[in-house]
Amino acid sequence: MTARLLDGRAVGATVRAGLAETIAAYTENGHRPPGLAVVQVGGDPASSVYVANKRKACAKLGIESFSHDLKDTVSQAELDALVDELNEDPRIDGILVQLPLPEHLSADSIINRIDPDKDVDGFHPTNIGRLAIRQPGLRPCTPFGVMRLLEETGRDLHGMEAVVVGASNIVGRPMALELLLAGATVTVCHRFTEDLAAHVRRADLVVAAAGKPGLVRGEWIKGGAIVIDVGIHRRDDGTLHGDVDFDAAAERAGFITPVPGGVGPMTIAMLMHNTVTSWRRRLG
Ligand code: GUN
Repeated sequence: MTARLLDGRAVGATVRAGLAETIAAYTENGHRPPGLAVVQVGGDPASSVYVANKRKACAKLGIESFSHDLKDTVSQAELDALVDELNEDPRIDGILVQLPLPEHLSADSIINRIDPDKDVDGFHPTNIGRLAIRQPGLRPCTPFGVMRLLEETGRDLHGMEAVVVGASNIVGRPMALELLLAGATVTVCHRFTEDLAAHVRRADLVVAAAGKPGLVRGEWIKGGAIVIDVGIHRRDDGTLHGDVDFDAAAERAGFITPVPGGVGPMTIAMLMHNTVTSWRRRLG
């Protein structure tokens, strides 16, 4: 392998250590701790693991987490009422409603209802709009975490040819906005893109976030390129893999993220970061 690994566990730990220090400095001076409300509807096993990890990360840093585990029969009106209550609660700096929601509930409507200044996922249209007009507020955690990982490369992103594969609201679109803000020349590929290989072949930076295992082939990677893999898929043998054919890509790339241990740990670190940012703004 010729590529250097971008270690999200190590970088995430550094981010969290900095946050823990900030929190301790304020709370030792008598300020209340940051508060994150974590709302889960139903018992989807994958969501339960993510939510448990988020709560654990909060506890380690000194962030108070407020858990709301709702039955999957909860109505939209009841969920709306809970969000209204959390918006008003002065102990709460961040509200996270774990997605996906059961089919009878509207994720869009819930995201729109969260106070944009407590929207620590960065999903609210106001926060996406702020990012789009170069006035970032709370930034979507996964793309924000990727930007932090890219700092580790020491490379200047200005003028870089960046190709984002996937155009989801949660990752692909805000990722493109982050890279544009950083001065890259950005192409977004998606399900209607005609020649994905041709786009990837000319990229200095590839962010794969399509949710399709092995979609990005190693032989497409330009020599020395930075490869960021947001995908995570479990094979029948239990092993985890991303959207990129890692072994072949690592032979050509300059930097690459592993799966697991690349982007995943950064998402949680940046959720904590957003919660602390929101808390500090609220403390004044
Ligand atoms: N489901 C999968 N990823 C996420 C995330 O980052 N935030 C929320 N709220 N739900 C998710």
